Amino acid sequence: MNTTRTSLSLSTLSCLLCVLVFSVTISARPATFTQDFHVAWANDHIKQLQGGNAIQLVLDQNSGCGFASKNKYLFGKVSMKIKLIPGDSAGTVTAFYMNSDTDTRRDELDFEFLGNRTGQPYTVQTNVYAHGKGDREQRVNLWFDPAADFHTYSILWNHKHVVFAVDEIPIRVYKNNEAKGIPFPKFQPMGIYSTLWEADDWATRGGLEKIDWSKAPFYAYYKDFEIEGCPVPGPASCASNIKNWWEGPAYQQLSSIQARNYRWVRMNHVTYDYCTDKSRYPVTPPECIAGI
Ligand SMILES: *[C@@H]1O[C@H](CO)[C@@H](O)[C@H](O)[C@H]1NC(C)=O
Repeated sequence: MNTTRTSLSLSTLSCLLCVLVFSVTISARPATFTQDFHVAWANDHIKQLQGGNAIQLVLDQNSGCGFASKNKYLFGKVSMKIKLIPGDSAGTVTAFYMNSDTDTRRDELDFEFLGNRTGQPYTVQTNVYAHGKGDREQRVNLWFDPAADFHTYSILWNHKHVVFAVDEIPIRVYKNNEAKGIPFPKFQPMGIYSTLWEADDWATRGGLEKIDWSKAPFYAYYKDFEIEGCPVPGPASCASNIKNWWEGPAYQQLSSIQARNYRWVRMNHVTYDYCTDKSRYPVTPPECIAGI
């Protein structure tokens, strides 16, 4: 009897421990800015609001700014709510991306919000670098005004695919087609970054529209930072653990509703796709043929 009770309480204890270890290895949410991020560029241009639950990024003629996650992660899901620069944002770029920071074999997953003149739609450009090779730009116009309110932008990254989503609607899927010899980011952990900067040499109508500095300073707002993934350094077994929720059956492929939404985005909101740009790619890149 005594023995049973001991082993029972021992297993209860070990289970408690495993829950503890679990919650330590997999970042909890929700996070304040300083829990998971630090300012990477121009401290005086990033202001914390609401006790660190939200931040304001500033772009003026002196500087843009940027922040970065304290950790790198290998697989997981990251999301944040962003409210972009309202009105005349031409020539500005607000970016939210993951990057391995490895020069020669860079992996990178990008969201870039390209500003526009008042009344003209923002463009969301996505790109995927795998094993050092990028140049996979796609562009969509959003179905709402991203400067009028906060919207959720997320990147899901697991062994099966990478899904870029806006308010949980997939706008891009990059599938793991390693079996067909197509590179997939899998070996290098990535940090999470965001920047606001001027790029009026290319951002708006190919660089024709310049920043109107008389409208400066420009403000973008962020809140509801969520990172769930395997931090690196961290337990080596985390990234390959198929029990991580982001590796689960519901995340291995788009649900039928997500697939329908994704088709709707593809048909109605894509304004550029490198896959169909014959002048850049006379031979269609293999990942475009392998499909989703
Ligand atoms: C800005 O608006 C123009 C006109 O509607 C459009 O052609 C362009 O794609 C928009 N976005 C950018 C980033 O230039």
